[in-house]
Amino acid sequence: MRRQETAEPANLVIGGTGMLKGVALRLSTEFQTIVIARQVRKLYELSREAKTVGGAISAWRFDYSAPRAADRIVDVLRHRSLDCRKVVLWVHSHAEEFAVGLLQRLAERHSEAAIVHVLGSASLQPEGIADRMVANNVVGSLPNYRQAVLGFKVEANTTRWLTHAEICTGVLHALEMTERRHVVGTVEPWGSRPGA
Ligand SMILES: NC(=O)c1ccc[n+]([C@@H]2O[C@H](COP(=O)([O-])OP(=O)(O)OC[C@H]3O[C@@H](n4cnc5c(N)ncnc54)[C@H](OP(=O)(O)O)[C@@H]3O)[C@@H](O)[C@H]2O)c1
Repeated sequence: MRRQETAEPANLVIGGTGMLKGVALRLSTEFQTIVIARQVRKLYELSREAKTVGGAISAWRFDYSAPRAADRIVDVLRHRSLDCRKVVLWVHSHAEEFAVGLLQRLAERHSEAAIVHVLGSASLQPEGIADRMVANNVVGSLPNYRQAVLGFKVEANTTRWLTHAEICTGVLHALEMTERRHVVGTVEPWGSRPGA
């Protein structure tokens, strides 16, 4: 669907109060940014911090495991006449059905949005979620769907997981790029990942 001229631009971050806090704060300085999470205290603190950087966060305490969660999110966007410009989707692997459902709903009304799906390192393993999502028909209707796959860093003779700052920089980069997939750090050699 084409962008509605009368709708207000907004960004949406699902799971934006943890490691993606920096992404939510940055996006909040562009347009009103809806952040979804469950813990009220973290949502409140994030909203307060956004004001200190001149941003606006609309905190929404919502559990994406709830029934019809994807429908309810898109209903709220419609009732508030919001047009999604950027969407960051960080959901746990057990909620893949929700992620697919939300992408389907976004394809109906917000198909032009830049969407970054944040995925863990293991998502690139054979039969992992990364390829499964790209193969899914719904992604074909979302020209600006991207993946940010979180890898690890190789340093001297050791490896370490990414810092939150590195993750946020990688996700913000993925929002601007044209390639479908951006690996933050590396996932190779897989056997050298921290703790393997
Ligand atoms: N390199 C990698 O591959 C990789 C991958 C994943 C994670 N990590 C690391 O692991 C650490 C912990 O990761 P984490 O998964 O705990 O991420 P996190 O980003 O710290 O927290 C998860 C986010 O999702 C929200 N959330 C979780 N379940 C939800 C639900 N059912 N409904 C609504 N919102 C929900 C959380 O809010 P509430 O708590 O309020 O629900 C929070 O905003 C991170 O700090 C990161 O460094 C690394």
